[in-house]
Amino acid sequence: MCGIVGYVGPEEAGPILLQGLKRLEYRGYDSAGIALLNGSGVQVVKRSGKLSSLEQAVQEDSPSGTCGIAHTRWATHGAPNQPNAHPHTSSQGDIALVHNGIIENANDIRTQLSAIGYVFTSETDTEAVVHLIDRLWVEGEPLEDVVAAALRRVEGAYGIAVVSSRDPGKIVIARNGSPLLIGVGKNGETLAGSDAAAVIALTRDVVYLDDGDYAVLDMDGYRIKDIHGAQVSRTTHEVTWDLEAIEKGGYEHFMLKEIFEQPSSLRDVMRGRLMEEDGDSRLGGIAHHQPNLSRVRRVVITACGTSWHAALLGEYMIEELARIPVEVEYASEFRYRNPVLEDGTLVLAISQSGETADTLAALREAKHRGISTMGVVNVVGSTIARETDYGIYLHAGPEIGVASTKAFTSQLVALALVTLNIGRRRHLSVVQGGGIVRALKELPDQVEKVLELDSQIRSLAEAYADARNFLYLGRGLQFPVALEGALKLKEVSYIHAEGYPAAEMKHGPIALIDEDMPVVVLAPRDAVYQKVVSSIEEVKARRGRIIAVVTDEASELDGKVDHIIRVPQTIALLQPILTTVPLQLLAYHMAMIRGADVDQPRNLAKSVTVE
Ligand code: F6R
Repeated sequence: MCGIVGYVGPEEAGPILLQGLKRLEYRGYDSAGIALLNGSGVQVVKRSGKLSSLEQAVQEDSPSGTCGIAHTRWATHGAPNQPNAHPHTSSQGDIALVHNGIIENANDIRTQLSAIGYVFTSETDTEAVVHLIDRLWVEGEPLEDVVAAALRRVEGAYGIAVVSSRDPGKIVIARNGSPLLIGVGKNGETLAGSDAAAVIALTRDVVYLDDGDYAVLDMDGYRIKDIHGAQVSRTTHEVTWDLEAIEKGGYEHFMLKEIFEQPSSLRDVMRGRLMEEDGDSRLGGIAHHQPNLSRVRRVVITACGTSWHAALLGEYMIEELARIPVEVEYASEFRYRNPVLEDGTLVLAISQSGETADTLAALREAKHRGISTMGVVNVVGSTIARETDYGIYLHAGPEIGVASTKAFTSQLVALALVTLNIGRRRHLSVVQGGGIVRALKELPDQVEKVLELDSQIRSLAEAYADARNFLYLGRGLQFPVALEGALKLKEVSYIHAEGYPAAEMKHGPIALIDEDMPVVVLAPRDAVYQKVVSSIEEVKARRGRIIAVVTDEASELDGKVDHIIRVPQTIALLQPILTTVPLQLLAYHMAMIRGADVDQPRNLAKSVTVE
């Protein structure tokens, strides 16, 4: 959510910053801007709308300088217009600042500074910080000391980067609640980024700031100080994925690329982790925590959005195989309740980005109460990954499409691996465990088979592209799949969609059904199949149009429903992976046919780092 990039080094910063912004655009695309330091001061160019508008403006204005900062915005305070775009500058234009997060006492600062003559030109909370820096700056003081002094008066969440012609040749960055990292260059360049994608073209060596840290970046490298002003050293991590991973690689959209990457992302999450003979999983991230895990009496899984849907499936898995009671909580609700977290509870946070503000806050609340925490996270080195006591990575590679696809299916496999691991140390037999391992091994090939349905699903999307509403029905393990299918459709195609437990339909939503209501019914052959067939009859009796996702080669549904999507059969606990993939494709094609911007749906951004 909002992207920051900074560069100081021997080269012209403009093209490097724009390239970094391009790789961060998935984090926000309401407006974008850059600020470059050069002999004549700070030169700022910013535009509302997508990055292409900024690129054009930069071509026209040709700003220059070898030190600069840039930003792509997802609006929180103030409309997505040019005055509200970052960077924001001091009244004399000699300090420029970009910011992710929310400054909670911005109005107080604004009132105090306005009273002594400061003029505000935007509606943003960020502008208060740049004027505060100006106000506090005593001539001759280094930029980092003034920024630190200003931040001591600021409340809220931020990742910021600041440059000033009063103290040129450096970038000062600071973090409190919004991710920020330093890219350690090899040829006299130092970079900053809100995630590794911003710096990967120039370096794989990154240093993540902790909350409360601020750092000075210049051509000699970087120096980090903590909240108390003490110099600290933070570990350098190596980014293990390649630039290719964040490029489209011949696909029209990241979403489609990531849907088609699923056979390989599933192989990656399982790689080296399956022990078929023992019916077990080998998970380095939790191996040393077995004594803790054996004391777990209850699990609370917390997450948001698609990750929350994975959590619902995790609940089925853990209860079924490890026989531990599980509750699933929206992280945004959990953090403001007073949850009962007694000894023996494990809080499990699921997050693709590892930076979602609500999930992080829920996790911190659990830690504050002395509860042990575990993470299932994709982005290596992310805040949730670092702050949980232990956990496992998805190794799905960067997910750039705003709609989460491959991360979801990898989350389900990761949860199955964790469940297997806990279950085998409790009630699960080697035979049962072995069956699950074998089913896991077959999954990537089965997903490949589902992907072969792409053109069938595209034709289906053509038939329903004008629909105004969609209903998704599933029962048991297929209910979270119904929720996920509906979420995918609404976020990329803007069609209103609801996911419902199939049997609940008759308690209300059945009133919506007529010949204009497409209903996607998840009907794999499982313990509740016949019950789902009854729900199909009920929809049919009201002339609803049914798209059934089934696993049978041929069945009684063939003549009964309007369309059949046939996916391979696996064990019930893993079947959601195979029934979700066609729903991802359906959402993608519906959005394409309707002309929606699939990778950058309106109002959304990847990685929600504000409340
Ligand atoms: C939906 C989607 C979001 C995220 C949610 C949590 O396609 O991507 O609903 O799942 O914002 O994000 P993470 O998993 O990064 O915590």
